[in-house]
Amino acid sequence: MQKILLSGVKPTGRSHIGNYFGAMKQWLTLQDEHQCFLFIADYHSLNFIQNREEMNQNILDLALDYLAIGLDPEKVTIFKQSDVSEHTELAWIFDTITTMPYLKRAHAFKDAEAKEKEISVGTFNYPMLMASDILLYSPHVVPVGQDQKQHVEITRDTAEKFNHIFGKEVFNMPEPMILGEVAVVPGIDGQKMSKSYGNTIPLFATDEEIKKQVMAIVTDSSSEIPKNVYAIHALIKPKEELDALYEANKGKYKALKDALTEDLIAFITPMRERRKAFENDIEKVKEILKKGGEKAKIVAAKKMEEVREAIGVSL
Ligand code: TYM
Repeated sequence: MQKILLSGVKPTGRSHIGNYFGAMKQWLTLQDEHQCFLFIADYHSLNFIQNREEMNQNILDLALDYLAIGLDPEKVTIFKQSDVSEHTELAWIFDTITTMPYLKRAHAFKDAEAKEKEISVGTFNYPMLMASDILLYSPHVVPVGQDQKQHVEITRDTAEKFNHIFGKEVFNMPEPMILGEVAVVPGIDGQKMSKSYGNTIPLFATDEEIKKQVMAIVTDSSSEIPKNVYAIHALIKPKEELDALYEANKGKYKALKDALTEDLIAFITPMRERRKAFENDIEKVKEILKKGGEKAKIVAAKKMEEVREAIGVSL
């Protein structure tokens, strides 16, 4: 039997190469040998995007990204979280078995608290919705970047707790899949690449944007090898070629940045072209999401039957 893979991205803005190398590329590599559920986490992004047009556009953009990187909708199930109401239903049930002190240990909550931000209840409960996203589909693997590791651990804890309280093995224990070399893709300032830090290289950037972002990569003049340039370059160039290039151009930051620009353009152009083709057929994209939602719903509804039975609400 094929193993099951599940993962998703929040539609909060343009996908970047951190999303791609940290998670999406693994989906591509595994799509042939796994049964894949790949979703657009639109209810998660409602914590950040509260504007109808923007939400609509972000969802379609992310669907286009999924297709443009080469996911095959005939093989994988691509869907919107909001089309499968079981996600929010199960999240409520998890809320009732989870304590506030436990959720207060989540990094995302602690970070927000440290910044003295007033966070929404949705942001606080975010890990419960994520646990539901995952556990409804009984996946074996969940490919994500390092920043999601704790969320997958919370998911496992929640599965265990539910099974224990209700005395039934309703949920399996999913494994995170985090690849060491790309666990934390750095942004142009050397911190983790993140939409919220404004340090990204968008996955479908134009040539001009690529040039601009590469030129803005922060370099440290005390070293002959600009480490932030090298780290991004390492994502797309084999190590031997990369080391030879950096050895031959020691201290020549401009030449190395030009080489990175050229390699990024060569890497991004084919995906950008594929994306354009899908952009011309948005109705088809909507249809793919609709069909994916229907397929996902069948699996999620079946799991919810088991859940309702286990907690004693189905008579
Ligand atoms: P999100 O939308 O922030 O990011 C999507 C994926 O990209 C990875 N990622 C990175 N990996 C390496 N280096 C980086 N700089 C980098 N930036 C982002 C993230 O780790 C993630 O894998 N909560 C999730 C979305 C989600 C989800 C799920 C994922 C909701 N439910 C269930 C998996 C399973 C999120 O906010 O990811």
